[in-house]
Amino acid sequence: MGRIIPDFLCYNTNVNLADLLKKSLDSSLLDLIHRVADESSAFGFPIYLVGGSVRDLMLARPIVDLDLTLEGDAIKLARALVKKYGGDLTIHEKFFTATWTPQSSNSPILDLISARRETYASPGALPTVTKSTLDDDLRRRDFTINAMAIRVDGDYFGELYDPLHGQNDIEKKSIRVLHPKSFVDDPTRIFRAVRYAERYGFTVEPETLKLVNDESRKVLSDLSGERLRHEFDLIFDEPNPSAMLKQLSELDVFQSIHDQLQVMRYELPPLEEPLSGFGEFAVPDMLSFRQSLGWTLYLINLSEADIETLAERLAFPALLTKAVISASTLKKVLPSFKEWKPSQWTFHLDDLPSLSVYAVYLVSKETALSDYLSKWQHVKPLTTGDDLKARGLEPGPRFGEILRQLRAARLDGEVRNEEDESRLLASLANN
Ligand code: CTP
Repeated sequence: MGRIIPDFLCYNTNVNLADLLKKSLDSSLLDLIHRVADESSAFGFPIYLVGGSVRDLMLARPIVDLDLTLEGDAIKLARALVKKYGGDLTIHEKFFTATWTPQSSNSPILDLISARRETYASPGALPTVTKSTLDDDLRRRDFTINAMAIRVDGDYFGELYDPLHGQNDIEKKSIRVLHPKSFVDDPTRIFRAVRYAERYGFTVEPETLKLVNDESRKVLSDLSGERLRHEFDLIFDEPNPSAMLKQLSELDVFQSIHDQLQVMRYELPPLEEPLSGFGEFAVPDMLSFRQSLGWTLYLINLSEADIETLAERLAFPALLTKAVISASTLKKVLPSFKEWKPSQWTFHLDDLPSLSVYAVYLVSKETALSDYLSKWQHVKPLTTGDDLKARGLEPGPRFGEILRQLRAARLDGEVRNEEDESRLLASLANN
């Protein structure tokens, strides 16, 4: 099969989207784009809004990242902007890109990218990047809907560059790769196709779908754990991860990662943020709360052995592995705790990550778990170690035991006020 989009159809549309830009972006953002564009023009670098920004603009969705690609040296431009307007700069020499954080706190972070060509030394390898033209830059991309640019400098402001007919595919609600080897070059694009399809209510077009085949699945199965895990992380950031996981499983892409992923149920409960009274949740540095919760709920029905194999394959941070295993174990033993007193629940749950307790609460709606998170975990006796010392008790294991019994009595409602606690303390201290 040759190019999916024949070359002879690649023409410029002569569409100008200046009005759409003016209508969709707030004035401070437009002003920022103009400032960057003027600076770029002064160097003679044509500059464009590209990729996701153009796609989301056409779909009338909020523009989260502002990606600006220029035919020229992005690092030189970024340095000039910092010199003129201040702000912070991060430079990635190897990729000819720079990230500029302007000084004003409500200003977005700008990714400034030198137009580039990408080649893959072998299937699934990270691409080799060389500076090039806008046309090459659009042709290196994943899908037609992500391969459009709007020029923003000078008199060209608003001009659409759409050589691969992305606008047409937006209208047809279609996800289409640019060439038949796209998923072999980079099989994470299979995940991306499903993400976009579900997010926008689009369909992966049939020729593209056929490219999810044994060849691309094989390259996918050889990807590093970090790259694979990151694709799931992004799915958990989406409003409806369950539908995406289901579609990926139907495409048979999980089999090569772990057979249990392929047979699992997908209906995750909504990834709700916990109430503020539920206390602090420790999550790994590299993951958000939502991603950590998504993983925990996704794998909650697996055995400890399966979780460990998957965690190793997908390079889980240790904290996440622990949270998932704790949640899976807690869910299994939950029915045997039904008659437990609050103190028994509390002493058991105190040893588990709060994330695990919360995840099991979401799937079981067991009120003891929400009581633990909102109240019980915070219950402490009034008596302290210093009070025990003042009573002439020697510090040691007995100390801990007395404090534990005082806490249990509070949790179970046997001690309700200071007097109750003093009475119990006196009897415990005398024993
Ligand atoms: N891209 C690609 N192949 C990939 C990853 C990215 O071609 N494996 C290109 C796409 O053109 C994409 C652009 O790089 O539009 C930026 O990537 P990214 O920030 O991941 O995507 P967004 O388009 O911003 O989409 P999202 O809203 O999902 O972040």
